[in-house]
Amino acid sequence: MAWDPKLYGRFAAPRLRPALDLLTGVPDMPAGRIVDLGCGSGVLMGPLTSRWPDATVTGVDSSDEMLALARKDHPAADWPQVDWVNADIVTWQPAAPPDLIVSNAALHWVSDHELLFPRLLDGLAEGGVLAVQVPGNFDQPSHRIIRDVTDQGPWRGRVPARPAGILEPRAYSDLLADKATSVEIWETVYHHVLTGQDPVFEWLRGSALRPILAALNEGEIEPFEALCRNALAQAYPPRPDGSVAFPFRRVFIVARR
Ligand SMILES: C[S@@+](CC[C@H](N)C(=O)[O-])C[C@H]1O[C@@H](n2cnc3c(N)ncnc32)[C@H](O)[C@@H]1O
Repeated sequence: MAWDPKLYGRFAAPRLRPALDLLTGVPDMPAGRIVDLGCGSGVLMGPLTSRWPDATVTGVDSSDEMLALARKDHPAADWPQVDWVNADIVTWQPAAPPDLIVSNAALHWVSDHELLFPRLLDGLAEGGVLAVQVPGNFDQPSHRIIRDVTDQGPWRGRVPARPAGILEPRAYSDLLADKATSVEIWETVYHHVLTGQDPVFEWLRGSALRPILAALNEGEIEPFEALCRNALAQAYPPRPDGSVAFPFRRVFIVARR
């Protein structure tokens, strides 16, 4: 699936904040090998290399577009400790067990968390940490509207049911309890304030709507977008100053092997 880093980056600040909050949950620990799964354009490389300056950091992502921007923003001459791998999270295997795997806003695109999370934890070096942030807003109007519009039109049954979604926090705790020496899970609801024209629609056009739009025929994109845009504008109306409140729940999981 093609990503548009420019569109995704339009809301860079509210999207970065949870990534930084995730890193604050990682205990102080030495780390020689770090992996960022679903690294996108590499927004975490700065914070990771600042905190662990001696580590090698591998960014893994399956989007050519995201990796192209990551490489452009992190030239090898200035970032000798960073490398980029174009691979699927589901099948990629590190050459050696990482000390830290971080993944910000990526694993909800991958299904079978019951298998994925224990496998990632098992693949860590002894004492290593798995730190994940995933959106937990799939029951919110934003995603209900996407599902309703997807179920309504001529495209019904033809567009993919993605992102894959997430488990309940308790399920991650149960999954990792036997394997981890510690598991910390918490949730935060960010009350984003978005500006600009149809900002919730634009936010979703850069993320959750991407695989759906990619599956539509050319003539279907405009009517599909209009239905989403109108319903989202009603669910998230602009305030008198034009800004839009967009509550966004996120789930954080930090487990140590
Ligand atoms: C919402 S972006 C987040 C990017 C980055 N972690 C950040 O915080 O800005 C999700 C990223 O996950 C990547 N991704 C989704 N599914 C993937 C998969 N199965 N394998 C590798 N990368 C994947 C996408 O290509 C995209 O770059």
